[in-house]
Amino acid sequence: MKILVVDDEEAIRDSLDHVLRFEHHEVALAKDGAEGLEALKNQPETDLVFLDIKMPGRDGLEVLGDITQDHPEVPVVMISGHGTIETALEATRSGAFDFIEKPLDRDRVLLTVRNAHQMRRLKDENEVLRERLSQTSKEMIGTSTPLEQVRKVISKVAPTQARVLIQGENGSGKELVARLIHDLSERASGPFVDVNCAAIPKDLLESELFGHEKGSFTGATAQRKGKFEQADGGTLFLDEVGDMSLDAQAKVLRVIEEQRVQRVGGSEPIPVDVRLVAATNQDLKSGAEDGSFREDLYYRLAVVPIFVPPLRDRNQDISVLAQTFLQQMASNLGREEPPVLTDKARAWLERQQWPGNVRQLRNLMERCVILADGLKIDVKDLEQLTGPGATAAAPDVFRTAQTFEEFKEQSERLFLQQRLTGNDWNVKRTAESLGMQRSNLYKKMERYGLK
Ligand SMILES: Nc1ncnc2c1ncn2[C@@H]1O[C@H](COP(=O)(O)OP(=O)(O)OP(=O)(O)O)[C@@H](O)[C@H]1O
Ligand SMILES: [Mg+2]
Repeated sequence: MKILVVDDEEAIRDSLDHVLRFEHHEVALAKDGAEGLEALKNQPETDLVFLDIKMPGRDGLEVLGDITQDHPEVPVVMISGHGTIETALEATRSGAFDFIEKPLDRDRVLLTVRNAHQMRRLKDENEVLRERLSQTSKEMIGTSTPLEQVRKVISKVAPTQARVLIQGENGSGKELVARLIHDLSERASGPFVDVNCAAIPKDLLESELFGHEKGSFTGATAQRKGKFEQADGGTLFLDEVGDMSLDAQAKVLRVIEEQRVQRVGGSEPIPVDVRLVAATNQDLKSGAEDGSFREDLYYRLAVVPIFVPPLRDRNQDISVLAQTFLQQMASNLGREEPPVLTDKARAWLERQQWPGNVRQLRNLMERCVILADGLKIDVKDLEQLTGPGATAAAPDVFRTAQTFEEFKEQSERLFLQQRLTGNDWNVKRTAESLGMQRSNLYKKMERYGLK
């Protein structure tokens, strides 16, 4: 691995250099934040950074801010001296992968390196998989009348500049519709930027949307472009728009009216050319009536409303969706032939209520490919996979995890997956039932590739 060590103490640099080189890693050394950032710029392939917290000039936390912003894929391990444990903990909350304490313990250092390596590999694999999935699942499948209706509206509205509000239950395909609108528009070669308003803590949403200037609030260690600026020339997808605070709503309204954004702490308005597509699973219209959502913003966003019907109202689509998902999963797993549903199994699928809609169906088909033996899937396989014992087939983390960290992560992933499934992948309900912040749950879902 290529490892960068940033520490002002020569003795620490030398000892890490020694330990790491002995294990055949490539090591670069820097004596302060500026040198470290320079080294990262010159060697963007860096796999891991060890970063001291207490340094003259810019301290480790500030430098961490820059690294996570400019090189979000590089894991950073903080080096904590006496009296900086609190800071180290804080650092792991704001994006550091881990921390080690001085005096450095050789085994601990090497274990951290191995963990970081493993995490990075998993992340890369996840990304490849997700990319493949997103390529295969971009198509909107189904020929039922309600879905054809949606298609018709999409093809009419996509080439215009009109703002679109997509409404529908969890997992019904709202994001898919938003992406199709972008892809069929004149902005297709521009960026499609999505922002999940429910996944961002309320007090950070404004800086996320509009950006901020350096030093505009604690933690704003560098200037940052907001999502509106990032989407310039393209489409901004405001997902879960019903979760935006009234404050943020007022500001979005202003951006729509003026077509300019002002960064938090900034003075100059910046012109932006963005098409807005929003989505929600709430009834925004009645929100507008009872005052929880601004009525003027509602009408601005819902120039063209699109309602994506729940899966149970278009059960002609179920069979073809199911078979397509089986095919995709099988080919992702490198299986030669996808399993086939028996006629009775199809009829069974068509009788279900699907509160989690297409996502729930896709998850079930995924489990079918992984767990059902044989090439035919019958009603009893489906019942088994959806029944109360359905998670019993979860991998045995006691065996698969090598380190305590891995054990914690794998168990956490399984636990959240099971709870999400139990709540039909309704994130709000799951978070509430777990007593967890919704933004935190979203973050974990992203981290573990749960979607
Ligand atoms: N008609 C369809 N054809 C193929 N795949 C679909 C279709 N509808 C939905 N999907 C797939 O189902 C999953 C859920 O869809 P999507 O994320 O668009 O739903 P959503 O309405 O945005 O859900 P949520 O409310 O939870 O955000 C995605 O993997 C998507 O690709
Ligand atoms: Mg969505």
